[in-house]
Amino acid sequence: MSRVEIFEVGPRDGLQNEKRLIPAAEKIALVDLLSQARFRRIEVTSFVSPKWVPQMADAAEVMAGITRRPGIRYAVLTPNLKGYEAAKAAGADEVAIFASASEGFSRANLNASIAESLERFAPIAKAAREDGILLRGYVSVVTDCPFDGAVPPGNVARVAARLRDMGCYEVSLGETLGQGRPETVDAMLAAVLNELPAENLSGHFHDTAGRALQNIDASLARGLRVFDAAVGGLGGCPYAPGAAGNVATEKVAAHLAGLGYETGLDMAVIDRAAAMAQTIRGSA
Ligand code: HMG
Ligand code: MG
Repeated sequence: MSRVEIFEVGPRDGLQNEKRLIPAAEKIALVDLLSQARFRRIEVTSFVSPKWVPQMADAAEVMAGITRRPGIRYAVLTPNLKGYEAAKAAGADEVAIFASASEGFSRANLNASIAESLERFAPIAKAAREDGILLRGYVSVVTDCPFDGAVPPGNVARVAARLRDMGCYEVSLGETLGQGRPETVDAMLAAVLNELPAENLSGHFHDTAGRALQNIDASLARGLRVFDAAVGGLGGCPYAPGAAGNVATEKVAAHLAGLGYETGLDMAVIDRAAAMAQTIRGSA
């Protein structure tokens, strides 16, 4: 059976947008439960400015509190060298730099142009290489931007190529707004695949318009075999007004199973984690 990996981003992408300041202990409990579900990679938190994303201000505490399971890489987001140094001190197995395919979103999310953000990432990439910490990259708003509208596929391909050139072992293509359609996703992937092979890409779909599974199907057809998802469908980006949660891990896993793909996940644990995620969010 052909294998597809789900990269769990719930504790980070899922929780970053919650209004209630969630106690670190609840985040730790969620990560610890997820660690029992046989993910290979879990994105735990972000070492970003607490002025920008107050919910992630406890990143070091959460990293220190989780129980690490062998075989799982615990990943975090780092927007600048300050974040990288804190992530390294916290023992992150991998860090992610995150760029945008549109200038409007780049400004809103990072207070920088695309070019400035890439300049900021270069020292992170160098340090990660020297420290032996894996580097992952994100490109946001790969089809639709809340500020600039439709995003030309060539812009996504250019930014993805820059992240690859910096040493990202994988580039996650963020459909931040959740308004992409299979056709726009397909056109975007056609452009990106001119630069990077499918095995170095991940699909990261928000489910605002309810088309995430169709967009995953379009990506599978283009050869992608890694998808980011958040247990319980948690999430939304603080700088993408109107964007709803990430596509739910349990929904993606069930969909993939129906198509004959193996994810290797323990679905009973995932269901418990989804319930815990809903409780944390206060929507159980
Ligand atoms: P800035 O205000 O331009 O930068 O923000 P600054 O350097 O002037 O810093 C402002 C303050 O934050 C300073 O504190 C810094 O020390 C502090 P002050 O001197 O005023 O007391 N600071 C930090 N503190 C802790 N850790 C740090 C850090 N950096 C600065 N790393 C900055 C620029 C990039 C820092 C800011 O814009 C930022 O943190 N942005 C992150 C936004 C974010 O986390 N967005 C959500 C994640 S991206 C996403 O969800 C999309 C994704 O899921 C894919 C998809 O769906 O598309 C990945
Ligand atoms: Mg996201």
